[in-house]
Amino acid sequence: MAEINWDKLGFDAYRTRTVVLSHYKDGQWSPVETTENFSFTLDPFAQVFHYAISCFEGLKTFRQKDGRIAIFRPDQNAARMQRTAKFLGIPAPDKDLFIKMCTLCVQNNLEFLPPYGHQASLYLRPMLFGVHPQMQLVPYPEAYFAVICAPAGSYYGEHLKSFAGVIPGNYDRAAPKGSGSYKIGANYAATFKPYKTAHDQGYTELLYLNSGTREFIDEFGSSNFFAIKGNKYITPLSDSVLPSITNKTLQEVAVDFGMEVEKRPVRVEELAEFDEAAACGTAVVITPMSHIDIKPVLEEDKVEKSYRFMPDGEVGEVCTKLYKRITGIQFGELEDTHGWCYHIEEK
Ligand SMILES: Cc1ncc(COP(=O)(O)O)c(C=O)c1O
Repeated sequence: MAEINWDKLGFDAYRTRTVVLSHYKDGQWSPVETTENFSFTLDPFAQVFHYAISCFEGLKTFRQKDGRIAIFRPDQNAARMQRTAKFLGIPAPDKDLFIKMCTLCVQNNLEFLPPYGHQASLYLRPMLFGVHPQMQLVPYPEAYFAVICAPAGSYYGEHLKSFAGVIPGNYDRAAPKGSGSYKIGANYAATFKPYKTAHDQGYTELLYLNSGTREFIDEFGSSNFFAIKGNKYITPLSDSVLPSITNKTLQEVAVDFGMEVEKRPVRVEELAEFDEAAACGTAVVITPMSHIDIKPVLEEDKVEKSYRFMPDGEVGEVCTKLYKRITGIQFGELEDTHGWCYHIEEK
């Protein structure tokens, strides 16, 4: 077992043992390679370097209470990567190859899979990128598909905490009818600088509005938005938002709890009416918001409006309940009634 303090893990580019790799060329995927070589050798003209022909996925593997190993909803990530690859014009692994390579990545990095009881998991990062050397702006059927992984902590330890978010008036995430609903690397490139500015000001999350009219909430830079109002789970319907698997899961759990799910355009002013508001995504499941500020210019001091949901650090009842149900299923403590856990053999 690797010397890792499982209780102190964050969400970092942790170097493990094995990379799993396949190369699509001449109409087929090469035999899957598991390698300890952590570097790719690519032509400097490769599409990925110049035109950002690149996409990825993120999913987690858990050591469960009864000792079994479960990957959470890998079929969903496989389907989303296929949709993104089609948008980019590169070949994608089918569901079986995607899941097979994720499984091999876990099996070949088992010493990095956190033991049960530490609220930690093994995060899988499947990546797909165009490697054909070219200058023209045309798709080409050649790509690398690789799966890497990193042990990841829960961020929170035993208990959820709430954080501050900000709506940056001078930044948009995705153009209308653009690439916002695809998990392409390029969508994230434009968020690095505003994220740094926001973090320096004590905000954890950036909440983006719809770029066309800036009237509606789209999503956070790295997660979806949802809110709770009475017995309703409300989340934006927008074609610029990434279809989050966590959000989908939360909606199913909300229905299990007897809640009503509303997927519809959400006006910014509605923030004043919500009991709870939160970000959701694979990395942390739920990041509850204590408050969300609107800043006309992120870099300047002026806060135009502030919507408060919880005292700093505190978390609402519904977010807590949803979080406990999902993490309980992931760690095998609660019954997996929807069949979300994909169990794999040790080897
Ligand atoms: C922009 C964006 N939205 C939403 C999500 C959440 O998606 P998922 O729940 O599938 O991780 C992510 C990734 O975590 C993301 O990067």
